[in-house]
Amino acid sequence: MKGCMKIIKSISEMQSFSRKARSSGDAIGFVPTMGYLHEGHMSLAREARAKNAKTVISIFVNPAQFGPSEDFAAYPRDMEGDLEKCESARVDAVFVPDVREMYPEGFSTHVDVVAATDVMEGIRRPGHFRGVATVVLKLFNIVMPARAYFGRKDYQQTVVIRRMARDLNLDAEVVVMPTVREPDGLAMSSRNAYLSGPERAAAPVIYRALLEAEKLYGGGERSAAALALGVRKVLGEEPMIETEYAEVSDTETLAPLKQVTAGAVLAVAARIGKTRLIDNILL
Ligand code: PAJ
Repeated sequence: MKGCMKIIKSISEMQSFSRKARSSGDAIGFVPTMGYLHEGHMSLAREARAKNAKTVISIFVNPAQFGPSEDFAAYPRDMEGDLEKCESARVDAVFVPDVREMYPEGFSTHVDVVAATDVMEGIRRPGHFRGVATVVLKLFNIVMPARAYFGRKDYQQTVVIRRMARDLNLDAEVVVMPTVREPDGLAMSSRNAYLSGPERAAAPVIYRALLEAEKLYGGGERSAAALALGVRKVLGEEPMIETEYAEVSDTETLAPLKQVTAGAVLAVAARIGKTRLIDNILL
């Protein structure tokens, strides 16, 4: 049915929606996003809808998780298109606060997850996970979800949020869903919108490189260095790509591994022109 989706801008209105749902016994499934919605986001929304009485999506480009030289101002935005997608997915409420609503004058509290942030994205994007953890905790307090849905595409983010949820006794169950890809393998991302035609054509090499590591692993290779080298070699064949890292880590602590014994996550960050993309696979 059209027209019954709530678009909520104020924190107090969001909280009263959620209190009302909870007091009538309706579990809320929550999908936090920064908008410019794609199939990756919508797969989370569908799962939220399948498993909960109410589905809430937030759309908030969170300035706190962008570094001073990063792409906050340029981050793609399409509120109208996003709301249409939410409506089609039969989301019950979309929470779209502005920056002042989330970070009023005098705001001065932050959440620092210390574990798992001294590797991968954590060292390349100082302050990033502090911004993510802070906004996600705020959103959990505002939306009061029974379950919250995150994509494995941002693997380190899922580890950080799970850690925070455990450490701070958050009420919400953190659910992690598989990475949704374009037909050519490129992981869906709002930032793919930055890619020029030729860059977009080159970008699937990232997934091909991960598949190469998977193949080596399938063939019995267990040395992290050899697996990472396999990834770098494939990425190196594409002149437009500049590899930032290819790391093999423990799936839970993200500690760097030398040998893959019980499984691992292989995570990559690469630049194509001015666009920075990340992806990963589980081994
Ligand atoms: P954003 O990048 O918009 O992503 C929102 C959610 O969608 C995240 O959980 C992300 O992992 C998931 N997602 C993105 N691309 C995906 C894909 N191809 N397949 C599956 N899931 C995908 O991540 C953020 O926003 C922010 O850091 C946020 C958690 C909202 C805090 O500001």
